[in-house]
Amino acid sequence: MSETKKSDATVPAQTSAPVAEREVLLKVEGLQKHFPIRKGVLQRQVGAVKAVDGIDFEVRKGETLGVVGESGCGKSTMGRVITRLQDPTGGSIHFEGKDITRLNTAGMRPLRRDIQMIFQDPYGSLNPRHTIGSIVSAPFRLQGVEPEGGVKKEVQRLLELVGLSPEHYNRYPHEFSGGQRQRIGIARALALKPKLVVADEPVSALDVSIQAQVVNLMDDLQQELGLTYVIIAHDLSVVRHVSDRIAVMYLGKIVELADRTALYEAPMHPYTKALMSAVPVPDPKRRGAKSERILLRGDVPSPIAPPSGCRFHTRCWKATEICRTTEPALVELRPGQRVACHHPENFEDQQPQDTVLLSVAKEAAELVADEVLAESAETSAAVAAEVRAAEADTAAEAADSAAEPADSASEPAEPGDSADAPATPAKSDDK
Ligand SMILES: Nc1ncnc2c1ncn2[C@@H]1O[C@H](COP(=O)(O)OP(=O)(O)O)[C@@H](O)[C@H]1O
Ligand code: SF4
Ligand SMILES: [Mg+2]
Repeated sequence: MSETKKSDATVPAQTSAPVAEREVLLKVEGLQKHFPIRKGVLQRQVGAVKAVDGIDFEVRKGETLGVVGESGCGKSTMGRVITRLQDPTGGSIHFEGKDITRLNTAGMRPLRRDIQMIFQDPYGSLNPRHTIGSIVSAPFRLQGVEPEGGVKKEVQRLLELVGLSPEHYNRYPHEFSGGQRQRIGIARALALKPKLVVADEPVSALDVSIQAQVVNLMDDLQQELGLTYVIIAHDLSVVRHVSDRIAVMYLGKIVELADRTALYEAPMHPYTKALMSAVPVPDPKRRGAKSERILLRGDVPSPIAPPSGCRFHTRCWKATEICRTTEPALVELRPGQRVACHHPENFEDQQPQDTVLLSVAKEAAELVADEVLAESAETSAAVAAEVRAAEADTAAEAADSAAEPADSASEPAEPGDSADAPATPAKSDDK
C-alpha cells in the first residue's frame, strides 16, 4: 500500500500534476550555515562549525521531501535556515520565486504565515502556562488575523482537524500526552494555512505506537489541505511511507537525493545503503537470506574539521585514494537521482581506475547477519508495521464504505495517548 499511498487522485486539484512537473515552491542553492567559534578576550574567530556546508535542492508544491541522516549532520540547522529562523552564511533561498535569503524580520513577517515549523519536542514547544486555546490562537494574534467566525471557533475547528476535541480549548499542555501535544503543535502550525511546513523530527520523541498515528495524521492533512512538507528524521522508516523524494545528509552535505522508490530499490550512495541496513527488509523472501547488511561504525566526524575529499571516506567500506583527496560532486546519475560518490552502488564506477581500498575502508563497516541488527532495527520495524497496518485499515475502510458506513468502534485506540489523556479522550487517530 505504501507505494501507492501518494496517489495523485487524492491530492487536491492544484497539486494534481506529477510531482516532477509541479511548480517549485522552495529552491535552495549552495546553502551554508557556519557557526563561528570564538576565543580569547577579543573573541577572535578561530574556526567554524560547518553545520550546513553547501546544499542544493528544491521542493515542489504538494510534495513531501524527507531529509534523513545521523544526529549532528545538520538537518535541524538546515530546517531553521530554510524557514529563516536562522540566517544563512552563504547560498540562496527562494520561496515562490522570491529571494528570501537576506530578508529581515519585517520583510519575513508576511512570509511567516506561509512557512511554518513543527518541532521535535512536544513537551518543550508548548508554553505550560498557556491554555491550548491560547497556544493555537497565537499565530492569529501575532499576524493580526481575524478568521471568519472568530478565533475561538477557528481554533476549535483546528483541534478537531488534528483529532482532538473542541473541549480541549481551556485545558493546559500538562493534561495531554506526547502524541496529543504534537497534535496541538500541528494545529498551531496549520492555523494560518501555511504553504510550506518544515517538521523537524516530529515523532522522534513519541512512543513507537504513537509515531505512526502522528505521521499518518500529517499525511492525511497534506492531502486534505494541499500542504507541502519537508520532514526531517534520523530514521528512514519514518519518512519512507510519506515522502515523495528523500534527501540523505551527511556532515552538512546532501550525498543522495532521489525519488523514494529509486532510493529504496537501488540506493547509490554507500551511506544511504548503510542507513537502510538498519531498516528491516520488508520482503519476507529476502528476510531468510543472510542479507547484505552494513553496520556503520564509529561516530560522525566533527563538522569543525570535516574529512578531506569525500566526507564519508573515514567510514566508507568502498573508500579509495581519490575519495580521500577529491570531493565528489552531487550529480544526476539517473533521471531524478542525484548522488555524490566516486564508486556508487547500483551504478557504474565513476573512478574505475582507482581500485585500491584505503585501510580504513576495510574496518569501516562489516557485513552482518540479520540477527545482529534485529535489536537495533526493532524500533524501525515497529514504526513501519504500525504505518502499514494503519494504512491497510484505511484502505479496507475505504473499500467497505460503499457497503456499510464507517464504524468508529473498529478504529484502534491510541494506547499511549489515552494513558494520560484528559477526561474527554481525543478522537481516535488513524483516519
Ligand atoms: N547554534 C549553534 N552553535 C554552534 N554549533 C551549532 C549550533 N547549532 C547546531 N550546531 C552544530 O551544528 C551541527 C549540526 O547540528 P544539527 O543541525 O542540530 O544536526 P542534526 O539536526 O542533524 O542532529 C552539530 O555539530 C551541532 O553541534
Ligand atoms: S566510495 Fe568514496 S566517494 Fe563514495 S561514499 Fe565512499 S568514500 Fe565517498
Ligand atoms: Mg536535529
